[in-house]
Amino acid sequence: MTQPIKELTLLQPDDWHIHLRDDAALATTVPHAATSFNRVICMPNLVPPVKNADDARAYRERIMQQLATSDISAARKATFDPRMTLYMTDHTSVQDIEIAAKSGIVQAVKLYPAGATTNSADGVTDILACADVFAAMEKYNLPLLLHGEVTHAHVDIFDREKRFLDEVLGKIIASFPTLKIVLEHITTSDAADFVLAQGNRIGATITPQHMMLNRNDMLLGGIKPHMYCLPILKRATHQQALLAVATSGSPKFFLGTDSAPHATDKKEAACGCAGCYSSATALPLYATAFDSVGKLDKLEGFTSRFGAEFYGLPVNTNTVTLINTPMQIPTHYPYFNGSTLTPLMAGETLPWSIKD
Ligand code: DOR
Ligand code: ZN
Repeated sequence: MTQPIKELTLLQPDDWHIHLRDDAALATTVPHAATSFNRVICMPNLVPPVKNADDARAYRERIMQQLATSDISAARKATFDPRMTLYMTDHTSVQDIEIAAKSGIVQAVKLYPAGATTNSADGVTDILACADVFAAMEKYNLPLLLHGEVTHAHVDIFDREKRFLDEVLGKIIASFPTLKIVLEHITTSDAADFVLAQGNRIGATITPQHMMLNRNDMLLGGIKPHMYCLPILKRATHQQALLAVATSGSPKFFLGTDSAPHATDKKEAACGCAGCYSSATALPLYATAFDSVGKLDKLEGFTSRFGAEFYGLPVNTNTVTLINTPMQIPTHYPYFNGSTLTPLMAGETLPWSIKD
């Protein structure tokens, strides 16, 4: 009988989808992200959004200023590398893309269908009308990161991702044959199958919550607002399909936490915000998920190799060690202006932790 794994050393992971927010929020989010990740792809849905290379440069500067004053090790500070994205609007121009590509500071372009989620009011209203911008991204090899949900009011919230695949994504892929696309935070077996059926220029990120939880966890025995995110958790069969592809060793699926902080009182409200905060405990969460199906040997590809390969970047050379010692997820963290942040699965005990 093989012995259970006690320690697991991985190449340092990257987070290919994170929300750090801005200003005072950075004092919490930046050290949490920098403790676990080297590169992080920073979502641009600030208020106002990050719309051009100048906005992206200024935002990165604010993150780096926060990093400098954060109480984390010099080694973690040295390798933390926030990568910027542009927020695509109806007014994004070919020139915006060209300048962004040449700036060396913008890693990708994020498309939110208008109204799909938090701070998406400036998002794109007619995706199929964006041909010239997609063509420019294709020309300059800037990947398109998609929040893949249709937003028509009459479409059921649980069907929005599948409808996006059927009605929008297939058309974009066919029209722009070399455009790199990441379908972000996939939530269904339909999305997993769709991505598997495409060539290597189409990838997907998977969050901890979508591989560990389903809508029963969120809705049975009382509503759990800290499990509410968009795209919303789906039924258990979808959760199982996501865990299966994430742990399959397919390079098309890689780590993107979608860690999305909202103060506790904004989540525990009559109209609560969408987003799960997982950044500080993401590695133990993913390790627990992979371990649950006996696939810890597939963890490093997902956390530390496939995303870099997709973006055409070198894999990291430093490492992190996970240890099979239980840890309790904090019930909350301090956030700005005296508020708190409640993380995903707050107060629960995970079998894996990060070795100091
Ligand atoms: O749940 C979510 N929260 N989904 C998103 O797409 C955005 C995010 C946020 O910014 O809070
Ligand atoms: Zn997100």
